[in-house]
Amino acid sequence: MVDASAVLRQGLLQLSKSGQVRTLIEKAPVSRDVVRRFVPGERTADAVRAATDLDRTGRRSTIDFLGEDTTDLDQARATRDAYVQLLEALSEAGLTQEGRSEVSVKLSAVGQYLPGDGHKIALDHAREICQAATNAGTTVTLDMEDHTTTDATLETLLELRQDFPSVGAVLQAYLHRTEADCRDLAGAGSRVRLCKGAYKEPESVAFQDSAEVDKSYVRCLKVLMAGEGYPMVASHDPRLVEIAGALAARHHRSADSFEYQMLYGIRPEEQKRLADRGDQMRVYIPYGQEWYGYLMRRMAERPANTVFFLRALATKG
Ligand code: FDA
Repeated sequence: MVDASAVLRQGLLQLSKSGQVRTLIEKAPVSRDVVRRFVPGERTADAVRAATDLDRTGRRSTIDFLGEDTTDLDQARATRDAYVQLLEALSEAGLTQEGRSEVSVKLSAVGQYLPGDGHKIALDHAREICQAATNAGTTVTLDMEDHTTTDATLETLLELRQDFPSVGAVLQAYLHRTEADCRDLAGAGSRVRLCKGAYKEPESVAFQDSAEVDKSYVRCLKVLMAGEGYPMVASHDPRLVEIAGALAARHHRSADSFEYQMLYGIRPEEQKRLADRGDQMRVYIPYGQEWYGYLMRRMAERPANTVFFLRALATKG
């Protein structure tokens, strides 16, 4: 039998790469209003405001300046500059103490795909962002993109950690390789965000069935919770959140030795509940003009998000 939600998911992930659909959606009069549910704004001030609001309710944040797959050096430099400016603004707002607000960086946004020296350019830009984070008293997590970049991203991570040991990694449970990567990255002080994974990946490298992805997530979580690092449990899935709590208790982890993470605008009540009960909760805040790819991945994850978007287009557009 055809799984309709899987077909919708694959279709939306395909569309996330389509320039034509992107232009259509970006120009739709209502798009920006609807996008606000997931993306608080386009300017640094919007990101700082969202982080401040979360901070008031005991939630931490990690902020992503939207943009990816850059093939233009000026654009890569502009992204680096945006992060440096953001980190200064977060520091001025008093949000970076004890790493309450940090930043998430996609290497493809700072030059990884540039022809020739892409790897080195991205590394240099990431290094400058890490230095700005250190100056502000906080840290950086490297987002993980599609599987063709996993090795290069982990290499860059290790290079950055020589000077900035607190740089965080992201691992995606849908990849067959990830349990082994968790073992490699479960050492003392290693910050690892575990997520399910958001890209369209082939069967040769990734589990396709959601139950298989969930099982892999639990196996990976077991490795990270048993290790000496700092696991960051990035999921909205109630079952996985519960399992993470149980594993943390089994390994006698204190509340400050791991954290939960969720995306801005998704399950805000659950975010508050976890923070209120004394757990660490960090919210991923994306901001900037390049929201299209991010939004399409959120649509692909949950048909209800797509319905919300289409309904708004139909009623206001
Ligand atoms: P999934 O989408 O399968 O949802 C599981 C369950 O959660 C649902 O059945 C429902 O019960 C509940 N739920 C989900 N959405 C809900 C909603 N809107 N309202 C109510 N309930 C809802 N990916 C990547 O490839 N690279 C990366 O670097 C990152 N970074 C990242 C950071 C952070 C902080 C998060 C939270 C996520 C990422 N991701 C990511 C995205 C991640 O890979 C994944 O695509 C999404 O988090 C969705 O997966 P879930 O684990 O939430 O489960």
